Amino acid sequence: MYVPTWQGLTPTVFFQSGSMTARPFPLSAAHCTYFYRARNAIYHLFRALSLKPDQPVLVPAFHHGNEVRAIRAAGASIRFYPILRNLEPDLEALTKLCRAGARVLFVIHYLGFPQPMKELTALCRQYDMLLIEDCALALFSEADGQPLGSFADYSVYCLYKTLPVPNGGLLVQNHQVLTELSNLELTPCGFLATAGPGLQLMLERLRSRSNGLGETLSALKRSVGRVGSALGVERIPVGDIGFDLSRVNTSMSPWCHRLVQSCDVAGIRERRRSNFLRLRRALAHHATLLCTELEAGVCPLFFPILVPNKRAAAEALWQCGIGAVEFWNEGDSEATGEAFPDTQFLRDHVLELPIHQDVTAEQVDYMADQVRSLKLHL
Ligand SMILES: Cc1ncc(COP(=O)(O)O)c(C=O)c1O
Repeated sequence: MYVPTWQGLTPTVFFQSGSMTARPFPLSAAHCTYFYRARNAIYHLFRALSLKPDQPVLVPAFHHGNEVRAIRAAGASIRFYPILRNLEPDLEALTKLCRAGARVLFVIHYLGFPQPMKELTALCRQYDMLLIEDCALALFSEADGQPLGSFADYSVYCLYKTLPVPNGGLLVQNHQVLTELSNLELTPCGFLATAGPGLQLMLERLRSRSNGLGETLSALKRSVGRVGSALGVERIPVGDIGFDLSRVNTSMSPWCHRLVQSCDVAGIRERRRSNFLRLRRALAHHATLLCTELEAGVCPLFFPILVPNKRAAAEALWQCGIGAVEFWNEGDSEATGEAFPDTQFLRDHVLELPIHQDVTAEQVDYMADQVRSLKLHL
């Protein structure tokens, strides 16, 4: 069996007409700017905010790294606040940092699970700070019936993490609209740069349904890719680690717009939730779970478990055809080590299992069986 890390594309989506239902937030937001990837959005947002050196941004110590690179590249200074083992901020430490003076609170909703927005919005009000929600991992998730990304002044999304699109990042401006962002001159990425990753998404889907055929076609696609590289077809990676200033003005490709607009939001959320709950039930006494509650409205990105050795566990699961991901092994050098012990714990132990909209109940049960027999308890 093969359970891919990411949701795949089916060719039929190209023949669907746009969804007839109203688009939910953030797709319906009044001020949306679409980028090739979310780090471009973060960079341009911080450029437009033009923060002074004595106006630091408070950023969680538990982060991917690309968002931090984008903030730094835009010239902003950063102070890190601690994240506890339950994936929530240490509110006491964060309050101290707010009191010491900061202009922006940058919040990350991990794996689709909401941060404590009541407390965080109150802090921003009290200390007159801007709030930015990084929803790279939390598209279509809600807290108390309100969409994540709608609490803040600005929010960013990484579309390709939840939807079967080869690229796409979104910046939403909820309150004060920055004219610099309205005047950006963005260049859509070329068709060929999108076609390769698009084909890969289709092959992944095929492979998850028919492993042998999908594997053969994937090998064929890799050969075609090598020919494309030799012919100089430009590719801009997504999901990689790094920040490339020469690519920040690239926007989402036109056919990704079409795919995003026609996606079945309710179906995606429902399938992710039911896969999460099924896996939670199956692993309740056989793995160390990180997020046990699934509140109404949460659209989970992955199913996180805590394992003693991430690399060994991921390799063992890949051997069984399961696209497990080592979640955020490394962060910014200023935010690692003894000063942030809980963050280090999370970096050392969190492993993600796929529960996206393409994963079937049979695949969930297969994953549970493998995790159980590998005895991955922390
Ligand atoms: C929390 C978070 N923010 C921002 C980003 C940037 O996303 P993108 O790959 O679309 O640039 C990522 C991933 O790289 C992320 O995990």
